[in-house]
Amino acid sequence: MYCDDDLLRAHDWFAERGIQSNFIDRPEQGRTLQLTDGVGVPIEFCATMAQRQNRMRQFHTHSGGRLAFLDHIQVATHDVQKAYEWYSDLGFRLTEYTATDGTEELWGVWLKRKNNTQDVVYSNGVGPKLHHFAFHTPEIASIIHAADVMASLGLAGSMDRSLGRHGIGNAFFVYFRDPDGHRVEIFSSHYNVIDIDHEPRRWDLSDTTRSQIWGFPAPKKWFYEASAFEGAEVIPPTLDAPPVTLEDFLQII
Ligand SMILES: [Fe+2]
Repeated sequence: MYCDDDLLRAHDWFAERGIQSNFIDRPEQGRTLQLTDGVGVPIEFCATMAQRQNRMRQFHTHSGGRLAFLDHIQVATHDVQKAYEWYSDLGFRLTEYTATDGTEELWGVWLKRKNNTQDVVYSNGVGPKLHHFAFHTPEIASIIHAADVMASLGLAGSMDRSLGRHGIGNAFFVYFRDPDGHRVEIFSSHYNVIDIDHEPRRWDLSDTTRSQIWGFPAPKKWFYEASAFEGAEVIPPTLDAPPVTLEDFLQII
């Protein structure tokens, strides 16, 4: 979206496809178009928003994880295939995906508009629910520092997945819960996808290195706990394909 006229075009584009959208007022945002995506997630489009002074070069104000920018969100959905098709129609491109072993049944899709690996991720689960939102930091050392700061502030218990590196997207990460209980990721070192001929990278669901390249999967709570969207009906997943959790892994080894 570049200007309010684009929002009018978006409104008409959705209307042609039988998707209802409404213009609403939002603080700090210009004209805002609100609708529900193909899997029940409330979303908004706007072309302008209030501008604030950029603090990138105000290094003396950087603390904790030294966050640079909001990068992506991940959402749990009952129908990953439907989410993939809906966002592909909007112009999102698939960079990496997880499918059940030996099939092309989609368990998770990493979709992007920028040249990053993902702007939005949809993964299989009870949904729609917000799994996490993610902030980028330029240096891995800042993620370790964030974990140290949480520990010294007595907030180590808010980490619900400790440091590691994703196979998917190559991101070095830590996850914690904010004071409202929503999951937040601080991450670094994913990569650019610029070539439109880039073949999406496939991962088997049973491959524990997809979520943690060092082999240790995420704990059960990371996979199954997420935040409900206000007013959104929650539906069990159509695909019965549980991921390997840390609890499963510890029983195997
Ligand atoms: Fe993420």
